[in-house]
Amino acid sequence: MRFPPGFLWGAATAAYQIEGAVSDDGRGPSIWDTFTRGGQSGDPACDHYHRYLTDVELIDSLGLRAYRFSTAWPRIMPDGRTVSSRGLAFYDRLVDALLERDITPVITLYHWDLPQALQDEGGWCNRDIASHFASYARVVHDRLGDRVKQWTTLNEPFCSAFLGYGTGVHAPGIQDEGKALVAAHHHLLAHGRACEVLGTASIALNFSPVLTDFRDAAHRESARRFDGLHNRFFLDPLLGQGYPPDVLADVAHLGALEPAIRDGDLETIAQPLSWLGVNYYAPTRTAPLDDLTARGNCPLPGLRGMDVLPPRGPLTTMGWEQRPASLTDLLLWLGSRCSVPLVVVENGAAFVDVVEPDGRVRDGERVRYLDSHLRAVHAAIVSGADVRGYFAWSLLDNFEWALGYTQRFGLVHVDFVTQQRIVKDSGRFFASVVARNGLTD
Ligand code: FCB
Repeated sequence: MRFPPGFLWGAATAAYQIEGAVSDDGRGPSIWDTFTRGGQSGDPACDHYHRYLTDVELIDSLGLRAYRFSTAWPRIMPDGRTVSSRGLAFYDRLVDALLERDITPVITLYHWDLPQALQDEGGWCNRDIASHFASYARVVHDRLGDRVKQWTTLNEPFCSAFLGYGTGVHAPGIQDEGKALVAAHHHLLAHGRACEVLGTASIALNFSPVLTDFRDAAHRESARRFDGLHNRFFLDPLLGQGYPPDVLADVAHLGALEPAIRDGDLETIAQPLSWLGVNYYAPTRTAPLDDLTARGNCPLPGLRGMDVLPPRGPLTTMGWEQRPASLTDLLLWLGSRCSVPLVVVENGAAFVDVVEPDGRVRDGERVRYLDSHLRAVHAAIVSGADVRGYFAWSLLDNFEWALGYTQRFGLVHVDFVTQQRIVKDSGRFFASVVARNGLTD
């Protein structure tokens, strides 16, 4: 089972989840520093800020020719506005170290670490954020654009807006469904403004394909609503189709979104994409309200009363359902809607990992997860989806946001006390797939 020639193989990380060094070289506080105060935080995480050379060597040793990482806005502009040359210099060093080893840097400009100073002015609810983000994009592009050709504006605006401003489980911890929708619109606007600066860029969206009893009209309606707000709401405006009318109707009672959309916004959002970044972890099962097995904890603004069913096993330690077939379905669905190539920029799983006395981490469940999901990607390609690459989440075990250090997603095990790195069996497995550019039938 070979992948197409030139298929981009890599691993992904995010600045706040691995860098640590939250006060080094003038870095300013981000909303995640504030949100995690007093609990587990991104300090020291993997201490990558000081150990980046070791980590670049690890990437090289796995044979990966691409590395997706994010730049930290509060390191580059500590107050969200003023440029820090020491902060920029870190990414200069990192990019050069990657290029010396022939590893393509794939930069995400925003993976959730908003400078606190901008949050103090309303953060993503303040429309000015789009201009601030475009200025930040210009600064990073001016400095690294001679060497970096792959740019991603935002990672998962769904999480940043809906979990940050709606359910409040992520920074900045606001619980306001109307604000969540406004924040989502401003994310897309910021993406568009940054694309104008970057030339062509991509965006990484997290999709959750919906499963339900499609024979029943009430079930189909629950699927439509969830899919609408989780998937189509972010995708359609990027593709130049505007917000889906059915979704606008679903959230109209909140009265927040439509006043935030100004003339010209939809044109700004619909920039040509270099490719669409696809983050996939798990499907969602939906049901109508009267389903007695439902949990009723839908995280989507305006749809709180809608029911989400418990996932079916086997689960990862995140409680996420393992269903590779949904990845094939997703890639084919996206392929039928978008004219741009697709790149899976996040896929992976957390399990309980044990370092055995011989120093190995035999993470067979993760090997099986990767194997089955890579087969799912391959199946989509065979059926015609234009998928150009796959990035495992994640290179390293790291700080998993609201869940702290309890969830290990890495191909490489990290001891957060000693900072020792050990390549897990899954890392070796992934390296062997990459080396062959394929799997055995
Ligand atoms: C995604 C995030 C990433 C990581 C994985 C597990 O939603 O983009 O940072 O936390 O989930």
